[in-house]
Amino acid sequence: MPKFTFISPEKKEFNVEAPIGETLMEIAVKNNVDGIDADCGGACACATCHIIFNHADLSKVGYADEDESALLDFLNGRKMGSRLSCQVIMKEDLDGLTVEIPYPD
Ligand code: FES
Repeated sequence: MPKFTFISPEKKEFNVEAPIGETLMEIAVKNNVDGIDADCGGACACATCHIIFNHADLSKVGYADEDESALLDFLNGRKMGSRLSCQVIMKEDLDGLTVEIPYPD
């Protein structure tokens, strides 16, 4: 089973099993990862599932589409590696990656 690591806003590490095909939001919620509220349930409408990748990992992860990017623009804490975890689907390429969860805006 692929693994994925979330670092919570308080810098707590959550190393979890990450089934291919599930969104990173679903994986985080299922594992009670701190800092992912996912208020809209994955509808790309709340931005409470914000995560930040290292810039180097973005080529594997991919970039936000227009709708996701528009929502990310509302966040003061948007960074180059920002994504909404409900819009990132786990795939083989992401096995072993680590992502940070920022404090909410
Ligand atoms: Fe609401 Fe991702 S869960 S935007």
